[in-house]
Amino acid sequence: MKPLTNMFLRACTDAAVACHPWIGKGEKVSADAAAVEAMRSVFNNYQFTGRIVIGEGERDEAPMLFIGEQVGQAQEDGERIDIAVDPLEGTSLCARAAPGAICVAAFAPAGQLLHAPDVYMEKLAVGPKCSLEVSDLDDDIISVAHRVADQLNKPLQELKACLLNRPRHEDMITRLQGAGVQLSLIDDGDVIGALRCALDPEHDAAVDLYVGTGGAPEGVLAATGLSALGGKMLGRLVFSNQQQRDRAQEMGLSNVNQVFTETQMAGSNGVLVATGVTDGDILDAVTKIDNVYHTHSMIISKQGIDFQRGHTF
Ligand code: FBP
Repeated sequence: MKPLTNMFLRACTDAAVACHPWIGKGEKVSADAAAVEAMRSVFNNYQFTGRIVIGEGERDEAPMLFIGEQVGQAQEDGERIDIAVDPLEGTSLCARAAPGAICVAAFAPAGQLLHAPDVYMEKLAVGPKCSLEVSDLDDDIISVAHRVADQLNKPLQELKACLLNRPRHEDMITRLQGAGVQLSLIDDGDVIGALRCALDPEHDAAVDLYVGTGGAPEGVLAATGLSALGGKMLGRLVFSNQQQRDRAQEMGLSNVNQVFTETQMAGSNGVLVATGVTDGDILDAVTKIDNVYHTHSMIISKQGIDFQRGHTF
């Protein structure tokens, strides 16, 4: 395994181990802080030049791993990488010991990951057998679902879609269900939600379409995995005020209303690493048996999905 990938695996497994005492304790902020601290400590133990381009929020809200933070023991002529992080994705899931919490991070050569504030993002994702047009993000969801079903050569009634179960998605949920689409409604965790589009269709958790609005860091993380696996994704930042829009411009976005494709968000050489905190659709929970922590991780790269089991003392 390449050294950077190995370091990211360590960062995610250490973060998951740090979350272990907080599973089911109802304290999502403490669980998140433990994950952030563990991940950052790994990054800063290695010699590389990394920059968090999207992640835990701005410097004044997030004490560590904030957007723009430099990590690693910088090397004059060493490799420079962009990093997207969500040290604990599904903070509430961890706090409730509910399925689907993970520790996740991604990297790509500098300049390839979308540098943006921690805002919302409208998202649409499909698997490697489908294509998306930029205009699909604004099209009627039933028309999009029909096109995806046609590309997969299946009736609409056999299409599976995943959405975050939120009041803002109520109309889409009602219409998709009305059209006979089978929905997987998730409480949290739309990195995995979107990545499910790129799973082998035989996998129990595989879906054909992911749609809805969620976090932008989660969007960039999912785009990294989907881009590596040949999946397609569209994303557009959603701002709730002018300050957020100005901040995005300061970060270098000339058109803050742009619809980004998965490669515009994550290039095509990125690597995504995730470790399970609680049991989920793809990853098993971190467990502690006889003082040994057992972790289940995945590494998504152009080589595919590599699952790894590890032990930490
Ligand atoms: P946290 O880990 O920050 O709690 O995020 C969980 C999550 O479900 C993400 O997967 C998703 O992108 C986002 O929250 C959706 O935001 P909201 O809960 O505000 O709808």
